[in-house]
Amino acid sequence: MMRLNKFLSSCGVASRRKCDELISQGRVTVGGKVVQELGVSVNEKKDVVCVDGERVMLPNELVYLKLNKPKGYACTAKDEKGRKTIFDLVKSDVRLFNVGRLDYDTEGLIFLTNDGNFANLITHPKFHIEKEYQVTIEGEIKESEIAVLRAGVVENGVRMPKAKVKFLSYDGKNTKLSVVIDEGQNRQVRRMFDCIGKTIVLLKRIRIGSVRLGGLSRGKTKPMTAEEIESFK
Ligand code: URA
Repeated sequence: MMRLNKFLSSCGVASRRKCDELISQGRVTVGGKVVQELGVSVNEKKDVVCVDGERVMLPNELVYLKLNKPKGYACTAKDEKGRKTIFDLVKSDVRLFNVGRLDYDTEGLIFLTNDGNFANLITHPKFHIEKEYQVTIEGEIKESEIAVLRAGVVENGVRMPKAKVKFLSYDGKNTKLSVVIDEGQNRQVRRMFDCIGKTIVLLKRIRIGSVRLGGLSRGKTKPMTAEEIESFK
């Protein structure tokens, strides 16, 4: 027996927390009956489990890919607005989901997998996995503004998490910075710069934990190495 959310994420449906949402929304059936309570267990060998009417099964094989997401792609299996999604870029025989999210206009490193435990390790805030972004903003930035980002900006009276921030370059027009955060709040980096009145022209994720984007071309995927996968365990 195993918990329904764990079963679904192991089938490559989504991360465990996302699977809880699908269950609550009444999109999951076990043996033909809608199950909306969380914490229900299923027999992974016998029960027929469906999501949106489609049967899901445990894979024989776990897949881990790195993708260099381009701007202009949504991180979702199906976009409500009919926009292109990252799954238009990925060829896979097995059903995969994205580990965490990047905004439509953000580019860079994102993992795709069918291993729900792996996704949980990377996205759960308690594991504090570092994510490094290269941020290009319009104009210059003062040392005092960088200090505010480092200490955690205050947004609507609430302090956002601290960040590691490093000045990289200024070309007379734009400034480049490295920003490292270890939580993944929604639009966290964009909100940080909004709070200090700076306009982001390019946001690119270049590292997750010790795994770097490296030379992977825009829109391309590459299997993660065993060493990269192990580095999170
Ligand atoms: N922070 C953001 O604001 N956007 C992203 O896509 C990722 C982190």
